[in-house]
Amino acid sequence: MSFLSFLNQEKTAFGLDMSELSLKLAKLKRRGGKVFLESWNEIELPIGLIIDGEITDSQKIISLIHKLIKNCHGKKIFTKEVVSVLPEPKTFLKLIEIPISDEKKLASAIKEEIERHIPLPADGMYLDWKIINNPFYNQDSSKIYALVGASPKFISNQYTELLDDAGLNPIALEIEGVAIARSLTMEETESIANKPAKVIIDFGATRTGLVVYDHGTIQFSLSIPISGEMITKAIASGLDLGLDEAEKIKIACGLDKKRCQGSLGKILHDHIDDLATNIRNAISFYYNHFTEPSPVDKIIICGGGANFRNLDKTLSHKLDMKVDMGNPLQNISTNQKYATIPPDKISSYTTAIGLALRGMNLTND
Ligand SMILES: Nc1ncnc2c1ncn2[C@@H]1O[C@H](COP(=O)(O)OP(=O)(O)OP(=O)(O)O)[C@@H](O)[C@H]1O
Ligand SMILES: [Mg+2]
Repeated sequence: MSFLSFLNQEKTAFGLDMSELSLKLAKLKRRGGKVFLESWNEIELPIGLIIDGEITDSQKIISLIHKLIKNCHGKKIFTKEVVSVLPEPKTFLKLIEIPISDEKKLASAIKEEIERHIPLPADGMYLDWKIINNPFYNQDSSKIYALVGASPKFISNQYTELLDDAGLNPIALEIEGVAIARSLTMEETESIANKPAKVIIDFGATRTGLVVYDHGTIQFSLSIPISGEMITKAIASGLDLGLDEAEKIKIACGLDKKRCQGSLGKILHDHIDDLATNIRNAISFYYNHFTEPSPVDKIIICGGGANFRNLDKTLSHKLDMKVDMGNPLQNISTNQKYATIPPDKISSYTTAIGLALRGMNLTND
C-alpha cells in the first residue's frame, strides 16, 4: 500500500439519468455490508433541449446538471465521476448466439452478426458486449452467447462531450435496459436455474422501454411508442382540458373505476390495449426467436408511469399475468440522517439507481 493511500478515497461515481424532460441523480455507498442511498435529486428539463435523444442545447443542459448536483438532497457531491445513460430508442441491446468456440474470433463474428440486426453499418456504431458465462449458456461449447449493446457513434459522442464540457468524468454510458435490469434484479444473481422469465416495463414521460430477462441475463430490449405525455394529451383532448389540469386528473384518478366516474379508463382504452398488445408481441417474439425460453410469469413495471392507479390490475387482467411494481430501493438502505426519495417518486429513480449501482462498484457489468 502506498504511504499516500490515505489520500486515495474510495472512488464512487454517481448515476445521472438524462431524459428529454428531466435529469435525475443518485449516489450510493457501500458501508458495513450494506448499500446506502447517499444523494439524490431531480430537475425538470424544458422541452426542446433534447429531441429524439439528440442534444440540441448543451449549454442549457450543462447549467441544469450543475444545479442538479449543487442542490442535491442528502450528502453533497464532490466526485466528478459519473455513470450516465444513452437515449433508449437510439440504442440496441440483444443476447446473440454466435456459432464459434474461439473467443479470439468473437469481435469480427459479432460485427458480422450485428449487421443482420441493425439497419445501420456497424462502422457507424459503437459496439460493446459481455459474454454470458453461466451454467445455462455454458452447456454447449460450440457456441458463445454474448449480450451485445450498440449505439450510434454520433449519439455516444454527443453525450460524452456534454459530460466532459460539464467538467465531469464519464466513466460509462450505459444502455438504459442494462441499468434498469441491474436496479430491479439485483437479488437474483445466485440462482438462475428454473426461474421463470420476466418482462420489465419502464413507463416514462416520453417513452416506454421493455426488457425481457431470463436465464440470469437480459435477452433483449425494445421501445414501445406510448408515454406518460401521450396519456396526458389523450386525457386533455378527451375531457377538453389544458395539459396541466389533465396531468392532475391523470394522477388523481388513473384507471380506477371509482374515480372520475371511470372516465379515464374509457378515454385511454385504446392506449392501454396498445400497450398490452406490444407486450404480448414482445413475449411472442421472445418465445419464437430465442434459445429455450422460459415461460414469462411476471411483468414488472417501473418508471413514473408505474404509479398510474390500477395500471397493474388492468394490465394483469388483459395479459392474464402477474404484474408487480418494481422497487429499485428494495436492497438499499437509506441514511437516517437524510430525507429519502418520496414514495411516489421512487419508481422514477429506477434508471438512476441502476447507474449508481454500476458507479458504486466501478465494475464492467
Ligand atoms: N401517479 C401517477 N399516475 C400516472 N402517471 C404518473 C404518476 N406519477 C408520475 N406519472 C408520470 O410519469 C412520467 C414521468 O416518469 P419518469 O420520471 O420515469 O420519466 P422520465 O424518466 O423523465 O422520462 P423518460 O423515461 O420517458 O425519458 C410523467 O409522464 C408523469 O405524468
Ligand atoms: Mg426514464
